[in-house]
Amino acid sequence: MTLRARLDIEPEAIVAPVNRLTFGSFIEHMGRGVYSGVFEPEHPAADEHGLRLDVIELVRELGVTIVRYPGGNFVSAYRWEDGVGPLADRPVRLDPAWKSIEPNSFGLGEFALWSEKAGVEPMLALNLGTRGIQEALDLLEYSNHPGGTLGSDLRREHGRDRPYGIRTWCLGNEMDGPWQMGHKTAEEYGRLATETARAMRMVDPTLKLVLCGSSGRSMPGFGTWERTVLEHAYEQVDLISAHAYYEPSPLDPASFLASATAMEAVIEEVTGIADEIGRRRGTSKRIDLSFDEWNVWYQSRLQDGHGEWRHAPRLSEDDYTVADAVVVGSLLLTLLRHNDRVGIACQAQLVNTIAPIRTEPGGPAWRQAIFHPFALTARYAVGSVLGASPSGPTVETARYGEVPIVDALATHDNETGSLTVLAVNRSIAEPVELTVDVSTLSGGEVVEMVVLSEEDPGAVNTLRHPDRVLPRPGQWRVAGKDIVLLLPPVSWSMLRISTG
Ligand code: AHR
Repeated sequence: MTLRARLDIEPEAIVAPVNRLTFGSFIEHMGRGVYSGVFEPEHPAADEHGLRLDVIELVRELGVTIVRYPGGNFVSAYRWEDGVGPLADRPVRLDPAWKSIEPNSFGLGEFALWSEKAGVEPMLALNLGTRGIQEALDLLEYSNHPGGTLGSDLRREHGRDRPYGIRTWCLGNEMDGPWQMGHKTAEEYGRLATETARAMRMVDPTLKLVLCGSSGRSMPGFGTWERTVLEHAYEQVDLISAHAYYEPSPLDPASFLASATAMEAVIEEVTGIADEIGRRRGTSKRIDLSFDEWNVWYQSRLQDGHGEWRHAPRLSEDDYTVADAVVVGSLLLTLLRHNDRVGIACQAQLVNTIAPIRTEPGGPAWRQAIFHPFALTARYAVGSVLGASPSGPTVETARYGEVPIVDALATHDNETGSLTVLAVNRSIAEPVELTVDVSTLSGGEVVEMVVLSEEDPGAVNTLRHPDRVLPRPGQWRVAGKDIVLLLPPVSWSMLRISTG
């Protein structure tokens, strides 16, 4: 049976301008994210710095705008000094976070260079686990001061005259998690983050600083943590972080496909808490959200390869299915719909580990299924996010109760007149006809419709079949002033209309 849903476009009903920083990503020293991911000096496609240019090309195609580095859990015992200076002098260390051997042949300088080549803004996370204010200040001086001081002259000695000019800094990572090295209570972290932020702002008041929110909505302290740390740091920071991973469940695919419901709740709850604190303080300052880790993650498979001390083990190299790509597409819809409050969002991660891009050492790089909705959304969701939400049938889910089967959103670019409709069908068996009322647009013409869907929603791209899952032309028809899109079951679709 074909179900029916409807989306009414009103170009005047704007939620927010599309925030390009929604299309962020994350490189952590975890598994093969760095080594044989973005960095592999022996690879035929590597440049003179060891950066894989085939990967950079895919990162550009993905449309990534900002990249968080170097962790994640890794950062909480990381000494940034280990990763700068002559290669021969860099120490090999144990990385307790991922039980890995860290050679430090990729560090700040390589990451900054990589960011420039990939055309992304670098976003650095500080170690507030085993370290503190002084090390943060040292790193800031090394990175951003032009010269004439110990730290900045050291950078120049290391071959980089110009400062890196890093604007966005995370004050630690997931400091509420007992798995975190140097894990802290909310009071302890609130104080440390505030004092670190205050000191950094004394050096440069224009920095953008991200406070650690709790590491997940299922944490027992979720909410209380945010309240406490914001009470300490409200005046000193710009954003508070949120992290969320959604795991496919073969026994409950309906809830998995509706994962965006949970992301929506995180956004509303965390910004709600921040606003309540702001109101109580009588300040007009608003704290936005840095959703700096989100993705689908087969976290229960992480144990694989997590046993011995190894260099760059294959950790969480999840093969993403079409269903996973549909969820990623719908999570992006949620982030866009909240672009009035989502200041930054980073898909976690970028290459090999929990990632849209996969590589083989010495071999090719390829696009996973989840690459496609991200890349197309990043390229074509431009202008403003419109407020319209679809109306239509619902499905009962074990985890979230009744949820709409179709989620859809439109962006409109006033300058070019282009309209993009992004839609997901979360029904496992039923196709949906989505009627888009475009009567408020003058003289629109469909440029293209693409669909990501396969007969087998479990289909994946692999080394041997890197293009098994691809966006393909979709079916649509004009019905009077409406355009009717056919959304297959478990699908992500994009329709582009030009009105220019
Ligand atoms: O992205 C993988 C890990 O997930 C990160 O290191 C950590 O911050 C989170 O728990």
